[in-house]
Amino acid sequence: MATAIAEHGLKEKLESYKQDHILACLDLMPAAEQKALLEDLSEINFAQLAARYQTYLRSLSAGNGEKVFDTAEILAPPLSKNFFSLGEDYLREGKVGIFLVAGGQGTRLGFKGPKGCFPLSPVKSKSLFQLFSESIRALERRYGRRLCWYIMTSRENDAQTRSFFNDNQYFGLAPDHVFFLLQAELPSLDREGKLLLSRDRLVSKNPDGHGGALTAMNESGALQDMQEKGIEELFYFQVDNPLAKIADPLFIGAHAEHRAEMSTKVVEKTDPAERVGIIGKINGRMGCIEYSELTPAETAEKKADGTLRFASANIAIHMLKRSFIEKLTRDQGFALPCHIAVKDIECLAVQGGTLMPVTGRGIKFEMFIFDALGFAQRSVTMQVKREEEFSPVKNFDGVDSPQTAKRAMIQLFTQWLKNSGKAPPCPDDLVIEVSPLYALDEAEFRKNYTPPASFSSPLYLGP
Ligand code: UD1
Repeated sequence: MATAIAEHGLKEKLESYKQDHILACLDLMPAAEQKALLEDLSEINFAQLAARYQTYLRSLSAGNGEKVFDTAEILAPPLSKNFFSLGEDYLREGKVGIFLVAGGQGTRLGFKGPKGCFPLSPVKSKSLFQLFSESIRALERRYGRRLCWYIMTSRENDAQTRSFFNDNQYFGLAPDHVFFLLQAELPSLDREGKLLLSRDRLVSKNPDGHGGALTAMNESGALQDMQEKGIEELFYFQVDNPLAKIADPLFIGAHAEHRAEMSTKVVEKTDPAERVGIIGKINGRMGCIEYSELTPAETAEKKADGTLRFASANIAIHMLKRSFIEKLTRDQGFALPCHIAVKDIECLAVQGGTLMPVTGRGIKFEMFIFDALGFAQRSVTMQVKREEEFSPVKNFDGVDSPQTAKRAMIQLFTQWLKNSGKAPPCPDDLVIEVSPLYALDEAEFRKNYTPPASFSSPLYLGP
């Protein structure tokens, strides 16, 4: 083992960063496991890890103390029609790529597998991935060109996600326009700053958060691919929101017209108790204020018109300029700030001369994409209607659950039906699903909808 450690130059590193407890663990392992662990250790940026631990120590004493919060300037309807047509030009000219963060699992929904595979649509139980794929196909048809879709997975769900697309023939998309990229992981630590060993005898790590998207784009070659394909702007969204208006021309246009580097869609928060991040200013810089960071007084604070002051709820839909991502990632030392979560972590510890499974409190580090807002020279915060664009699936039941998302989809499609003026009176309990391939939006619905001879529920409109 001594030679192997020397080869990696690890002994000194482990000692100087006070991680030499790992040497004792290595001593207890057979050669093949030692080799794998040494390789794993050799990939760690110890200086960066030590800096992250210092952030944790500082957070213990400082809390949120010095942060001053303010509201962001909001772009609210009615918005210029020019934004829409500019966005459409961008789509027609192939300047827009689509980026989905899909590293999460369906565990909280009681579902085994990637969250994107969760069956959600109200009539056909289509998965989130299928719904998004159909939207992208509809956009391709409308704008007369293929769109590139970049999907970020995590180690936990990468293989399953790829097979899901393969097994379903990419839901009709061109496979060479779907680019999977794997997010990285960051080592977890115990509260004394020591590295932990996972059950599989490697360094214990956790996914690096959706903020890891920036480095993943760079390291996977996705950024390079975008550049080669002439993609200038990236539409970013989360896997948990079936109402996400993918590559919305209005948003693309508003962002481009303002020459923004990163922009965000928000919905109005009306209930002070709602647990959403608020897009606003933190010490003068754009960012996302976590609900836990505002005092109860700030959370409930009202403006003269009676609406909440901190009301711009982050729905995690962004536009990012490719050149902005390149600028950030070009700098070797660049990393978004780390957020810390102290959680129970299952690991291995030396006990009685062997490695034994234990569970202890440990520190997980994550990066969040919205922290990139603070680096953008210009940014647009665009307010949209919640009932049209945001109904996330986060919980098994209650708020933000599959039931609420299905209801939101049904309500939206029923509204389209009623507004079309072509519907007989709808039953109150109508269950309706409109495939994006039938109509991407209300205007297209009005054009395509022909009332059936007899009206029955459930009603599915689509191929
Ligand atoms: C997030 C936002 C919150 C916003 C809300 C809107 C954070 C910290 N907060 O909350 O401001 O109001 O969405 O729905 O993000 N993901 C990865 N890799 C990871 C972690 C997450 O791909 O390592 C993906 C998940 O698959 C999911 C998305 O990022 O699509 C959101 O992550 P999640 O941790 O569920 O965020 P929320 O706490 O729900």
